[in-house]
Amino acid sequence: MAVCVQTTTMMMMMMMMAFGCVKGSSDVRSPRLALEKSLVWPSKDTQCLHLLKHLHNGARVTVQMPPDIQGHWVSTSCEVRPGPEFITRSYRFFPNNTFQAHQFYYADNHCSAPSYTLLVRGRVRLRQASWIVRGGTEADYQIHSTRLVCHSASVARDLGRRLKRSCGDLGSWRPGVSYELWSDEGGCDCSRGLNFAMHELQLLRVEKQYLHHNLDQLLEELYLGDIHTEPEQRMFYRPSSYQPPLHNAQNPDVSCMACRIVSRSDEFHPPVLPPQPELTVALTGQWASRRCEVRPEVLFLTRHFIFHDNNHTWEGHYYHYSDPACKHPTFSLFARGRYSRGLRSTRVMGGTEFVFKVNHMRVMPMDLATTSLLNVFNGNGCGVQGSWAVGVEQDVTPTNGCVALGIRLPHTEYELFRMERDAEGRYLLFNGQRPSDGSSPDRPDRRPTSYQTPLVRCSAGGHKSEVNAAHRSHRLSDGCRAGYHNHLTTISAAAVVWSLAFMGFFG
Ligand SMILES: *[C@@H]1O[C@H](CO)[C@@H](O)[C@H](O)[C@H]1NC(C)=O
Ligand SMILES: *[C@@H]1O[C@H](CO)[C@@H](O)[C@H](O)[C@H]1NC(C)=O
Repeated sequence: MAVCVQTTTMMMMMMMMAFGCVKGSSDVRSPRLALEKSLVWPSKDTQCLHLLKHLHNGARVTVQMPPDIQGHWVSTSCEVRPGPEFITRSYRFFPNNTFQAHQFYYADNHCSAPSYTLLVRGRVRLRQASWIVRGGTEADYQIHSTRLVCHSASVARDLGRRLKRSCGDLGSWRPGVSYELWSDEGGCDCSRGLNFAMHELQLLRVEKQYLHHNLDQLLEELYLGDIHTEPEQRMFYRPSSYQPPLHNAQNPDVSCMACRIVSRSDEFHPPVLPPQPELTVALTGQWASRRCEVRPEVLFLTRHFIFHDNNHTWEGHYYHYSDPACKHPTFSLFARGRYSRGLRSTRVMGGTEFVFKVNHMRVMPMDLATTSLLNVFNGNGCGVQGSWAVGVEQDVTPTNGCVALGIRLPHTEYELFRMERDAEGRYLLFNGQRPSDGSSPDRPDRRPTSYQTPLVRCSAGGHKSEVNAAHRSHRLSDGCRAGYHNHLTTISAAAVVWSLAFMGFFG
């Protein structure tokens, strides 16, 4: 119920964007100027600066609308789904709108010990551009058949037991044999016991970019819908964000070894990825987004974090945008606090637990909708009442956070981290996926079991802080306020409240 109301509000906001309110604000140069100014780093951290500026300027990514998904698409690494589940994917989409999807499941977090494979055949039909996730395309799908192959005797035994309720007793299951779990020719649905759905096909996006400014090196990525963080909700969830992208296997990225291994596999020869050394999570340094990130329900953002391991303090800068290319800033957040390292996770192989506290926060609205939102709130719940202006940052610590944004300080989050190195040897930092229901992981039992888009380490030192300080007194004019319709402002402000409340802090 609540979700329906919220979604309607979001739709109204999207409509208003289409009708020009936000177009008006994007004509104002000031928010961008403010953003550029907020990115003042000392010279030694130019790499972080470069990374984020590049993203803020929309990178060189082009998005295909409607997406052409024909072809063969494969995972680029071992993926972690909520639960956790460790999985690689190899999907083929044919010109006649049918698809064939291999999902390879593993017992370990490096995807080197295959346990079973699902082979799903069906039909997918693209629909309209998504209203919920700008830049995405909605689709419908139908499954024609689902088959299962187990890769060891013990997995066959376990799955046989697990599926007994939905499949009936089929005798003893054997490894290396393909079993039909479901087909549209009738029979019972034996796949129910697996908590398996292909709802990821309901939201798609294809991105293309040329690597290293080289016209011969085209990288094509297919983004499919996200999986709900609560396994019990998985069967009912319509995606509102994405999983890690699949790469087009016809344009091999030479540095992607996993892509090659996955693309050559089938249900009888599952991909076995080479075991990786388990890296100890070392947070010290600075980390930045590699891409314009999408959060469930319409949030686009880039992140920049600085961790000080010596005194266990951290600071995070979150730049929010209204568009999937991260070109039109809406507001930025600065948060600061302490963290403590916990133990290796017993639930998520390869993960390490952390606890994060936020006790200081600043907010800077960067467009009219967010500014109006902050100004319509009465009382002392968020900075100085009625004083918000585009491009001017305020400390909201004295008001214990910001009621308008649904943020109360101090705030605690239970986190899950892991580290990896990419093909170029750079360190990647994964932190926990935000709960799909918009709640905050503020209790140990809400700790994530999967990860979001990784950050890349852009500086080994964690010296610079207060990157926003340079422009704080800078007052920016906002030339389009006169043409701004009050009634619309209020509605759109309400929508922003909701999306902010949806956000949580870290990550
Ligand atoms: C669709 O095309 C694929 C690949 O060419 C083929 O295997 C399949 O039988 C076709 N399906 C239908 C329903 O035509
Ligand atoms: C923690 O250490 C960093 C780097 O040494 C320093 O810049 C920062 O001010 C310290 N923070 C606190 C709260 O002591």
